[in-house]
Amino acid sequence: VPVEPTTLVIFGGSGDLAKRRLIPALYNLLLDGLMPSNYVVLGLGRRPMSDEEFRATLRDGVVKHSRQALIDETWNAFANHLFYMAGENDDPTTYVRLKARAEELERTFQLPGNRIFYLSIPPSSFTPVCEGLSSSGVAIKDNGHAPYARIIVEKPVGRDLTSAQAINTVTGRVFDESQIFRIDHYLGKETVQNLMVVRFANSIFEPIWNHKYIDHVQITVSEAEGVGSRSSYYEEAGALRDMVQNHMLQLLCLVAMEPPYSLDPDVVRNAKMEVLRCLRPIIGKDVEKFTVRAQYTEGTAHGEPMPGYRREKGVDPTSTTETYVAVKCFVENWRWSGVPFYLRTGKALPLRASEIAVQFKDIPQILFNANGQSPQAPNVLTLRIQPEEGLSLRIVSRVPGTRAQTHPVEMNFKYGEVFGRPSPEAYERLLLDVMVGDASRFMRRDAVEASWAWITQILEGWQQSGQRWLPEYQAGTWGPVEADRLIQNDGRSWRTL
Ligand code: BG6
Repeated sequence: VPVEPTTLVIFGGSGDLAKRRLIPALYNLLLDGLMPSNYVVLGLGRRPMSDEEFRATLRDGVVKHSRQALIDETWNAFANHLFYMAGENDDPTTYVRLKARAEELERTFQLPGNRIFYLSIPPSSFTPVCEGLSSSGVAIKDNGHAPYARIIVEKPVGRDLTSAQAINTVTGRVFDESQIFRIDHYLGKETVQNLMVVRFANSIFEPIWNHKYIDHVQITVSEAEGVGSRSSYYEEAGALRDMVQNHMLQLLCLVAMEPPYSLDPDVVRNAKMEVLRCLRPIIGKDVEKFTVRAQYTEGTAHGEPMPGYRREKGVDPTSTTETYVAVKCFVENWRWSGVPFYLRTGKALPLRASEIAVQFKDIPQILFNANGQSPQAPNVLTLRIQPEEGLSLRIVSRVPGTRAQTHPVEMNFKYGEVFGRPSPEAYERLLLDVMVGDASRFMRRDAVEASWAWITQILEGWQQSGQRWLPEYQAGTWGPVEADRLIQNDGRSWRTL
């Protein structure tokens, strides 16, 4: 699909996301020949800055964070398309100036007036920005005619169901749903996209992809870093809101969804939506039974001492924000009847690794090693999302020799080895998707609200439990013992990563 010339306005243009992810992503798209023939990027932020200063900070961001190295000539050509203006989001005159600036740039660059607005700002600013864009006429509700206006909404889309609905209402007043692209950057990751390909471009998995053959599924997103510089956001969020509501539930949907009949964005999103509808609510006493939350205490990370969460800068010393969460959940439909999905995520864990592991049932009768020489090893299909992207299948093989001994072995496929080049970053693909108008990898309103509805019940359960203390785990370890019990009580255990 050709990428039409466009103007990209980044609200929060002087912020971290623009510097670390968005501009490096656009720069890589340019290197790969995927940017439109003509474009302008206009950053908007509170801090006064000249275009030149803006370009210098972004250059620095590309040097540090780009997938592909900076080439001076390409950068200089790219930088000529980058502009900046200062303005307060809640000041109506900002939008009058924005309109004038956008029009002037569009005249200079002979752009057709397609506009993308990236909202990399706190949700409290969504209302003034949407209203400002609309009342000034900078962006109009889709009327089916070119040029287009599209809006990209960064997380967090709310902190519970009510606030998510409020954000959706505000954006929905100004834009049609087809114009709104709610980012979940996990959906842009290579291996996450590969999930659908593995399931639906191969014939061998689908027949066994159900409760008859699958014992359980484990989804792990482990992070080695602590809360870092984001404590003010994280204190209000915690691991359940930060990771499970969005990224992990999306992964679960991709594992559990029914085959879509086409790749039409809404067909795929309907199939995922069905999974959210089937999630068994975790309410009342079940909250304690099916969820574990915990917080890290002082420990070590990469051999360096790491302070406990409550000692991190900007964190309340009596904070009860969870930095780890484990959830056991069920998708209540014919396919998944009785199959537990165990999710776990946390900060300050031993390493950065995300994977989905589908564990198959034990064989019905043990023929080999019947005298117990080696343990049973069920088949496991593992999709490694990061860092070493790939897929492996554990099978049991015969150990060479005269005795009939068996041993589990891994059939391993590594992206790096097979395709030999690093995959594009999630933001590259997602920004390109917005430019071509493909919403498949974005969150639809109903899905955001359905996942918040499910998460909010857990949050309420935690609140009602009156629990004054959280289980703890030492930074640099694999979470609290309570999380081990959650899965061990079912006669299973967390995978070793
Ligand atoms: C973000 C969360 O959405 O995802 C962060 O807000 C988290 O807390 C990050 O660190 C993880 O993303 P990735 O791509 O590094 O796995």
